[in-house]
Amino acid sequence: MSRHALIAVLLLGTAAPAWAATVSSPDGQIVVTVDVDNEGKPFYEVARAGKPLIARSQLGFNFTDEDPLRRNMKVEGETRAQADTRWEQPWGERRWVADKHKELAVTLVENSTTPRRLTVRVRAFDNGIGFRYEFPERAAKPETRIAEELTEFVVAPEGNAWWIQAGDWNRYEQIYQQTPIDAVSMAHTPITMRLADGTHLSFHEAALVDYSAMWMQRLTDRRFRTHLSPSSRGAKVVRTGAFTTPWRAIRIAPNAAGLVENDLELNLNEPNKLGDVSWFRPAKYIGIWWGMISGKWSWAQGPQHGATTARTKEYIDFAAKHGFRGVLVEGWNVGWDGNWFGNGRDYSFTQAYPDWDLQELAAYAKKKKVRLIGHHETGGNIDVYERQLVDAMKLYGDLGIDVVKTGYVADAGGIIACNADIAAPCGTQVMEWHDGQRQVQHHLRVVEEAAKNKVAVNPHEPVKDTGLRRTYPNWVAREGARGQEYNAWSPFANGPDHEPTLVYTRMLSGPMDYTPGVLSVTGGNGVPMASTVAKQLGLYLAIYSPIQMAADFIESLAEHPRELEFIKAVPADWAESRLVAGEIGDYAIFARKDRNSSDWYVGGINDATAREVTVSFDFLDAGKSYRATIWKDGEGATYETEARHRIAYDSKVVRKGDTLTLWLAPGGGAAVRLQPGR
Ligand code: NOJ
Ligand code: CA
Repeated sequence: MSRHALIAVLLLGTAAPAWAATVSSPDGQIVVTVDVDNEGKPFYEVARAGKPLIARSQLGFNFTDEDPLRRNMKVEGETRAQADTRWEQPWGERRWVADKHKELAVTLVENSTTPRRLTVRVRAFDNGIGFRYEFPERAAKPETRIAEELTEFVVAPEGNAWWIQAGDWNRYEQIYQQTPIDAVSMAHTPITMRLADGTHLSFHEAALVDYSAMWMQRLTDRRFRTHLSPSSRGAKVVRTGAFTTPWRAIRIAPNAAGLVENDLELNLNEPNKLGDVSWFRPAKYIGIWWGMISGKWSWAQGPQHGATTARTKEYIDFAAKHGFRGVLVEGWNVGWDGNWFGNGRDYSFTQAYPDWDLQELAAYAKKKKVRLIGHHETGGNIDVYERQLVDAMKLYGDLGIDVVKTGYVADAGGIIACNADIAAPCGTQVMEWHDGQRQVQHHLRVVEEAAKNKVAVNPHEPVKDTGLRRTYPNWVAREGARGQEYNAWSPFANGPDHEPTLVYTRMLSGPMDYTPGVLSVTGGNGVPMASTVAKQLGLYLAIYSPIQMAADFIESLAEHPRELEFIKAVPADWAESRLVAGEIGDYAIFARKDRNSSDWYVGGINDATAREVTVSFDFLDAGKSYRATIWKDGEGATYETEARHRIAYDSKVVRKGDTLTLWLAPGGGAAVRLQPGR
């Protein structure tokens, strides 16, 4: 019996497959089967250690102007490949990324006189799988108009899911829900699942380029299907010529650490297209920001205007004194007066308000070895922004402003684009989604224009990260979840388990500009935050970004000199990162090694349940002693009362193999710096 026929006999399912082939992960544990049944429908399924994980799930497409592609197909060819290599990140959670996988590509052809073709390419890694569709060039019909992608994900075992609602007005800025898998409605990705046997899964996508984002819609039980983000054009995706879809990626791990220490989506992305990006420096920054967020200052002109030349100089001086590389200034440019939310009609990205001197401040900063961080809020109006993009990025490039924070404040679906792309004036404006194909194109256009000027980009209200930082390493961070800003607006707005949930959900997609370091643990109008002071430090170790803000007012930072010492020291670029203890939504303790020294850092964040965590220093170099400087929750600390301000300090010498027990307060955290030879 041939291998294919044998598999066909072994496969369980309603319609017996007419054809099937498998590809296994290098360690042989994960097996992906692709099959075509006797009606010509393509399917895939995934098993781990012999147990089904993703039951037989259909593949295919609907179009707006041609027949669906989901039946009446046969296999035309099959190719195989494999990789066992590693590649270097210019910056990140770890310097080296191992890429070890096996690949199977199956080309399907329709049984028709005018047959269409579709290739399904599958990669199996030891910690997950990815697959994508590849559409060949078609001379007779160059344009493909996708109405819906019909990829199913049938989760075989029961379990719980951590997820946020897709298609809701507030984009990704939601508190995560924890429900049984069969109670999910329509979820953004990444969506995280923990199965009854402890297996951890994360469903996401990689290399979202010129396509609409994938939402996961639950159809019945644990059967999900792709629901692409909508478009004003009717067809959710319009492409010309040959193209590939983003990868559909499933991380598969036996535990939480295996989910977090996992580079699946990065490996599925294309290598760096920008070449040398050493001009981008991972660094920390402060800014004229919390003042506006907490309602003390304004973005608009007037007596409360935050972005004045005098205040910016104070911030630059503080940054220079304490070694912060960046100073973000928002509300510097014309367009903030009146209602900018969701319209952005009046923004100029080159003209400063009269009380803020861009040229003088850029020069002042440079003299002090500090850089301004630029800001482009668009109010969701990419029509206005794209017409100014070339000039706006050139202005920053010329002034040595090498990071820009962008923003798209508009309700979901409220992106304003010109239907004729960048035409001035625009004939008709159309509304698009923050993660639809048009906005996906927009983000890449901004990132490429920025790169030409040696500027890095940090979008808020962004499209989710799908690992494109590998290909475009100037796309350094983004928001794409409820950030610290919510804590300025109401008491305990981001509850104590929000960040320990982000670590295992949103953070699987890539760096986040969460903006930690509010040492006052107090928002606008004195509202309390669901955080102890030590948790604000632990966030630097739990929520990675190569640009980490110290978000508080400089006066408050100065009032906490010992905490400021930690923020000044903690790196934003790591040689290695490990989750040494943690569970989804409960807590997360990382050990990370500095990329530019032999120092290690250990620490992280806790939810509302006080706990003791014992960390074993088995990652330290043997034969060396390390000075451990410890910032931890003070006795009786809790986020619930004024005791959130209680922090304690300690210092001891440790060696490889020693252990340290940390008590984490409700809403608490900890941070430890380990320096060899002290
Ligand atoms: C929302 C962003 O998340 C925040 O950081 C920014 O200050 C405002 N928009 C204004 O751009
Ligand atoms: Ca936001």
